[in-house]
Amino acid sequence: METAEIRRRWLSFFESKGHTVVPSAPLIHEDPNLLFVNAGMVPFKPYFLGQETPPWDRATSVQKCVRTGDIDEVGKTSRHGTFFQMNGNFSFGDYFKKDAIIFAWELLTGSQDEGGYGLDPDRIWATVYTEDDEAEQLWLEHTPIAPERVVRRGKKDNYWHMGVAGPGGPCSEIFYDRGPEYGVEGGPEADEDRYLEVWNLVFMQYELTNVRSKEDFEIVGPLPAQNVDTGMGLERIASILQGVDNLYEIDEVYPVLAKAAEMTGKTYGASGAKTAEDADPDDVRLRVVADHVRSSLMLIGDGVTPGNEGRGYVLRRMLRRAVRSMRLLGFDEPALPHLLPVSMERMSASYPELRDGFERIAQIAYTEEEAFRRTLAQGTQILDHAVTDTKSAGGEVLSGDDAFKLHDTYGFPIDLTLEMAAEQGLAVDRDGFVRLMDEQRQRAKADAKAKKGGHANTEVWKELRALGATDWRAYTELGSDATVVGIVRDGELVTELEPGERGQVVLDRTPFYAESGGQVADAGFIAADGSHLDVRDVQRPVKGLIAHTVEVAGGGIRLGAPVRAEVDPAWRVEACQAHSGTHVVHAALRQVLGPSALQSGSYNKPGYLRLDFAWNSALSANVRAEIEHVANLAVRDDLPVSASWMTLPEARQQGALALFGETYDEMVRVVEIGGPWSRELCGGTHVRHSSQVGALTITGESSVGSGVRRLEAFVGMNALQHLATERAMVAELTSLVKVPQGELVERVGEMVTRLREVERELERSRREQVLAAAGSLTDGAEDVAGVTVVARHIAGGAPDDVRRMVLDTRGKLGDERPSVVALTGDGGGKPVVVVATNEAARSAGVKAGALVRVAAQTLGGGGGGKDDIAQGGGSKPDQVQAALEALKQAIGSRA
Ligand code: ALA
Repeated sequence: METAEIRRRWLSFFESKGHTVVPSAPLIHEDPNLLFVNAGMVPFKPYFLGQETPPWDRATSVQKCVRTGDIDEVGKTSRHGTFFQMNGNFSFGDYFKKDAIIFAWELLTGSQDEGGYGLDPDRIWATVYTEDDEAEQLWLEHTPIAPERVVRRGKKDNYWHMGVAGPGGPCSEIFYDRGPEYGVEGGPEADEDRYLEVWNLVFMQYELTNVRSKEDFEIVGPLPAQNVDTGMGLERIASILQGVDNLYEIDEVYPVLAKAAEMTGKTYGASGAKTAEDADPDDVRLRVVADHVRSSLMLIGDGVTPGNEGRGYVLRRMLRRAVRSMRLLGFDEPALPHLLPVSMERMSASYPELRDGFERIAQIAYTEEEAFRRTLAQGTQILDHAVTDTKSAGGEVLSGDDAFKLHDTYGFPIDLTLEMAAEQGLAVDRDGFVRLMDEQRQRAKADAKAKKGGHANTEVWKELRALGATDWRAYTELGSDATVVGIVRDGELVTELEPGERGQVVLDRTPFYAESGGQVADAGFIAADGSHLDVRDVQRPVKGLIAHTVEVAGGGIRLGAPVRAEVDPAWRVEACQAHSGTHVVHAALRQVLGPSALQSGSYNKPGYLRLDFAWNSALSANVRAEIEHVANLAVRDDLPVSASWMTLPEARQQGALALFGETYDEMVRVVEIGGPWSRELCGGTHVRHSSQVGALTITGESSVGSGVRRLEAFVGMNALQHLATERAMVAELTSLVKVPQGELVERVGEMVTRLREVERELERSRREQVLAAAGSLTDGAEDVAGVTVVARHIAGGAPDDVRRMVLDTRGKLGDERPSVVALTGDGGGKPVVVVATNEAARSAGVKAGALVRVAAQTLGGGGGGKDDIAQGGGSKPDQVQAALEALKQAIGSRA
């Protein structure tokens, strides 16, 4: 049975049992504790915790998940994949243990002809939490499962939580016996490879906190209702229903593996190992490729771009591991262009948006591969140097420092360093490397801790949120009458703020826009009888709650005080201009460059906007001008701007662009400019007509990482000011150059050309003069203790000239008598000294290197060289005569 079919059956089975089918949320979720969505229940967490009212009592989904904790295990075991899909059915205070168990049994063992999965009931095992008599009883009463196949297990296996504070409860896991060829008899307790866990039924009924490990946590109390959260690994059930050994061999993954094998000429599974554990290293590499290519595809699809921290780093690591594995398999060309399309073909059956967005996805992935290949090439050079240095110093071990530097600065993986050093007969100080890595990790940890400390305790916000959601009026009013319902100072709840203090104020109702979707927070004030608070920032620390960071300018503020909250109207107008301007530029960009130029991030504040988008190369001045032109045409056309609410599928169907990294609720807000011309999911504030954006001028375009470019622009009054400044500059230049404005560019061009010619001319004549002076240098020769010495300063002499003159003069002096030529120059702005000796002088013990050091010291610098010629310099041009004197003295004192 194909994976897409298993998924379809899942959803229709639970739909037939009264569940609403909810589409998968993106892999990136707003929960700051989670790198990626890692379970089907993540998008529903607020419902379980009772923070929000679920729109339905029962729901079902197939959720995209990424878990990277075991990334090093990928390919080595049959169970670990970084990307996977979790089939889930959820009850929010509706059915509980009994129905969850009955549903599971029915779907798993129901015949395939009737829409079930048709598993052999005799191969099914169930586990329950040690203390959960009820669950055990329900299994025995409501399913025909044999009593010996229902076993009890402790917290480690049968108590589920998110790994962080949140909902949790005892669970019941369902296992499938794959048969004796996969391991020993005895149920899940004996062998979890043979007995494969396929489905986890969580009876979610407690709120947990201080989660330190699987078994170590505290129960805050019961949840408002008894819920069910289940998770079936789609890939695992697929491996069973497709009769393959592991998740790398199912229909959604294997084609990539097969392609990689074909490209590298390897035969997958040649060793005949049944379990992945004893597989040969090439098989492991092929599985890594298959897994990581798919995960990268899905991550980029959901808006992650490669970077050096957080999510971006996880993606970078996976792409690099895939490329590197291909290299180790012997394939040294760009590999992703062969592999990624294969993965897309398979995955787009369930995720059609991958096909539409493939141009963008591919561009990001291929650019990263190119960058990594350059890294490898560059790192190889650095490594070769380090190896040569080590060898020439007689060493046999490459230092930990070198290995660390390669890793840290050039992104060169340690295993590659080990392998390549070994090829050249060197070992690597691995311990030293590990120590340096540890030190770095400690530093990073300390940093993260320091950052965390700066945030207010989230418990405080949860407490305030529990009092009710803020009535948020940003779309409809600029001023609200409100009541202070919460005050926070230094992360703690307080009852008042005094004049001069800073803190956060929560109101029951507010017109302030909280920073989100790239738009900065509104500015304004909150005033009460006799007090005035300047609003410095507005954030939404938890869903539904708006917190204003304020500075108390006068009067102080108390909990419960009636206040007036006023947004600065000019600020808001300009913020709206900037945000609508961002949409206009985005639409113009896509019109000019094509749909793959998709926004990956944005920032806008009154008068200014910037927009990051997926693109590989710099935009030419023409393209920039065209984008600006299209954007300003849209402004001129006075397109209507409107916002409406609809479901996510409706929005997608209308072609609304979703911003990456956002999780959307059931109902989403779609902002349109000129109907379909620009349609984006957006929670920001906007102008009513595009003409209100006013002028729009692009001021810059730059790179902000691999495959991502940034456009910056001014809008409204700021754009006009920017243009006015430029105009003033042109006027000033015109009057300086004294030509009509129309001829300015031509005239300045001519002037620059002329200037260059004149400079060249000047340089030529300076040189001639200097060299002419050299002719008479021998005339100034003097005798210093039996040595003929020419010591002179050449005003304006550049280092090259001086050197030439020194050699020239030494030649003229001949070899009969010991002679020394020492000239200083100051042509390059800094003083230089060059000294040459002849054979006879050197025999008499007069050495150029030593003399230069003496002179350069006087010049406030240093220098050196050989016995016959040496050069030095310094920083004190007024000391050249003194330097020459010192040099003569040195010759004299030697004699
Ligand atoms: N939330 C449960 C899990 O992830 C179903 O296993």
